[in-house]
Amino acid sequence: MRIVLLGAPGSGKGTQGQRLVERYNIPQVSTGDLLRAAVRDGSKLGHEAKGYMDAGQLVPDSVVLGMIRERLARPDAAQGYILDGFPRNQTQAVALDEMLADADLPLDLALLIDVDIPTLKQRLLGRLTCKSCGAVFNSFTSPPRRSGVCDLCGGELAHRADDNEETIDKRLGVYEAQTTPLIEYYARDNRLRRIAGVGDVDTIFAAIIADIDAKLSQQPAR
Ligand code: AP5
Repeated sequence: MRIVLLGAPGSGKGTQGQRLVERYNIPQVSTGDLLRAAVRDGSKLGHEAKGYMDAGQLVPDSVVLGMIRERLARPDAAQGYILDGFPRNQTQAVALDEMLADADLPLDLALLIDVDIPTLKQRLLGRLTCKSCGAVFNSFTSPPRRSGVCDLCGGELAHRADDNEETIDKRLGVYEAQTTPLIEYYARDNRLRRIAGVGDVDTIFAAIIADIDAKLSQQPAR
C-alpha cells in the first residue's frame, strides 16, 4: 500500500501518519523529519537544506528527490509506505509517479487533510516536540501532564524552529502556491480523497482508515 498524506502545515499529517504506521505496519516517510535529521547530523545535505527550512521555503527538488529515492529503496518500504510531506509540488508528484511506474507499483491514494487557516496557525504555535523521543504534544489541544516535559520519556519539549508566526505565514503561502495544485493533479484520475481535518484526532483517523480500507477491499489479493 502506497499512500500520500497531503495537507497544509499543521493539518495533522504527522499525527495521523504515526497512527497509520501502527495500523498497517508500513513506515511513515516524512521528508520534513528526514531533512531535520540531516540538519541535526550536520551532513552536507542538512547544511544545504537548513537555510530553506528556516525561511519556510521548499528545499530544492534535486535534494529532496535524491533523499526520497534512497529512503524508498530501503527494505522496510518494500511492502508500502505512507508519504508525509512529499510530494510538495508538481515536479515531485510527477517524479514519484515515474518512480512507481518504473517499479510497476501504483500509488493507492492521496489523502488530503483539510483544515482552516486559523486552526492551522493555532496548532503550529502550540506544537511541542520531545527532543529525546520525538513525541508530539500541543500546548492548546493536547498538553503534556507536566509543562515542558514529555509524558512518554521525561525528555525536554521544545517548539520547532520554523513554528514561529513569520515562518508559519511563509510556509502557508508556499503550500497555497506550490502544493495545492496537487489536489487537482490527484483528483484528475480519482486518486484523491478529502478528509475533514478539524475535530477529534480519533474521528479523523476513523475517516482516513475508512477510505484506505475501502480502497484495499477493491484490490485483488497479491
Ligand atoms: P514538514 O516537516 O513536512 O512540515 P509541514 O508540512 O509544515 O507540516 P508539519 O509537520 O508542520 O505539520 P503536520 O501536518 O505534520 O502536523 P502535526 O501532525 O505535527 O516540512 C518542514 C520543512 O521541510 C518545509 O517547510 C520545507 O522547508 C522542508 N520540506 C519538507 N518536505 C519537503 C519537500 N517534499 N520538498 C521540499 N521541502 C520540503 O500537527 C501539528 C500540531 O497539531 C501538533 O501539535 C498536533 O498535536 C496537533 N494536532 C494534530 N491533529 C490535531 C487535531 N485533530 N486536533 C487538535 N490538534 C491536533
